[in-house]
Amino acid sequence: MKEIFNTKSIDVLIAETKGKKSLAKVLGPFELTLLGIGAIVGTGIFVITGLAAANFSGPALVLSFVIAGFACTFAALCYAEFAAMVPVAGSAYTYGYAALGEIWGWIIGWDLILEYTVCIGTVAIGWSGYAVSLLGNLGITIPSKLSSAPLEGGFVNLPAVIIVTLISLLLITGVKQSTRLNNIIVIIKLSVIVLFIILAVGHVKPANWHPFMPYGFSGVVKGAAYVFFAYIGFDAVSTAAEEVKNPQKDLPKGIIYSLVICTVLYIVVSAILTGVVPYLKFKGTSAPVAFALQQIGINWGSALVSVGAICGITSVLLVMMFGQTRIFFAMSRDGLIPKALGNVNEKTKTPITCTVIVGIAAAVIAGFLPIGIVSELTNIGTLAAFIIVSLGVIALRIKRPDLKRAFKCPGVPFTPIISAAACAYLIAQLQVLTMIRFIIWFALGLVVYFAYSRKHSTMQIADKEAKEKITS
Ligand code: ALA
Repeated sequence: MKEIFNTKSIDVLIAETKGKKSLAKVLGPFELTLLGIGAIVGTGIFVITGLAAANFSGPALVLSFVIAGFACTFAALCYAEFAAMVPVAGSAYTYGYAALGEIWGWIIGWDLILEYTVCIGTVAIGWSGYAVSLLGNLGITIPSKLSSAPLEGGFVNLPAVIIVTLISLLLITGVKQSTRLNNIIVIIKLSVIVLFIILAVGHVKPANWHPFMPYGFSGVVKGAAYVFFAYIGFDAVSTAAEEVKNPQKDLPKGIIYSLVICTVLYIVVSAILTGVVPYLKFKGTSAPVAFALQQIGINWGSALVSVGAICGITSVLLVMMFGQTRIFFAMSRDGLIPKALGNVNEKTKTPITCTVIVGIAAAVIAGFLPIGIVSELTNIGTLAAFIIVSLGVIALRIKRPDLKRAFKCPGVPFTPIISAAACAYLIAQLQVLTMIRFIIWFALGLVVYFAYSRKHSTMQIADKEAKEKITS
């Protein structure tokens, strides 16, 4: 049983990336920062802000963003240390494997499968909301039966299914192409956010900020656990590690730059949003940023923001799906999930099979589940991964102080401890049902590990063979 805690050697991890199954190295620090912003700014700021302001935070939405941003900053520093040390596809999964042992690596990997897949679903639902509203402006009405989930009185969220399918096809064509497109989209979405700030700032009425905390401080922290979704994505930068030209230096830069830029934008946007429109008016709106501009009579701005939001949310989908397929890729290479899933196509250099599987799963989630359920599930999965990564930094400093760390997380062990505690606090704010769903997924993961992964683990098979050689 002891072998389930065997750790994977970091040298072996790096060597493995150089084999036949390796991915093309095309990304630099600038692309990585844009990849980060591409993953971070999306449904969270464009859609979830309004729901959080109306239901939890009120005008104190700014505080909710500060609290969630605080947790993420500490987690990002831990991520950066790992990302620079273990520049291999698979993100937290690989870090867990290297630092804490196979069973922990598996737990994180299984957790990330949930996180990314439901995240892609959530983001696609947000995309659908803006697309339906923009089409409405153009006089094309999509029946609500075809644009909402069964639990919301609909039949299927068709636009969400369609966008997931299109993104999957795009990713299959190759990483370089998708990254270039991501860069253009990121510039568009940053431009519309700046446009919103310029157009709306003169219309802020300080009276709208009173009462500041209509649901009390407990509402503000619940809001923080909810808007945490808006920060998810900086970890996706590290999933691209194997495609980075100089991962040791560029990965921490990409992670930290993109998180800082987004935190500043979120704080400014949420202050303006709640200053322009009374928070209760956001109840039920699926496009709050565009809605705020409509309320102050700038309809052309509202339409432009909608177009930008659609582009922006599309780029989140691109990066999330990219990240998910790379985690699958890493897990299959280790034998923990069937090897066939991780095969890289010779011509496109992309893992086609796992892209198709992830695409189908995310499309089903996006088509048939409501945003409230899937966004909370995404948050709990991500927060759990952050906790394990943070504690992993401490574990590896103790176990392997000799390893070269191109980026050292400052203030260890305090920074990782604060990170883990802040993430645990946010988890405690989520609905009990979300926690139950998460525990069920976790239990299922353990069953799969002991029934399949443990027996097929490349590392365990190699260990066994080595032992047999010695005894014979
Ligand atoms: N942070 C990403 C978004 O808000 C997941 O869409």
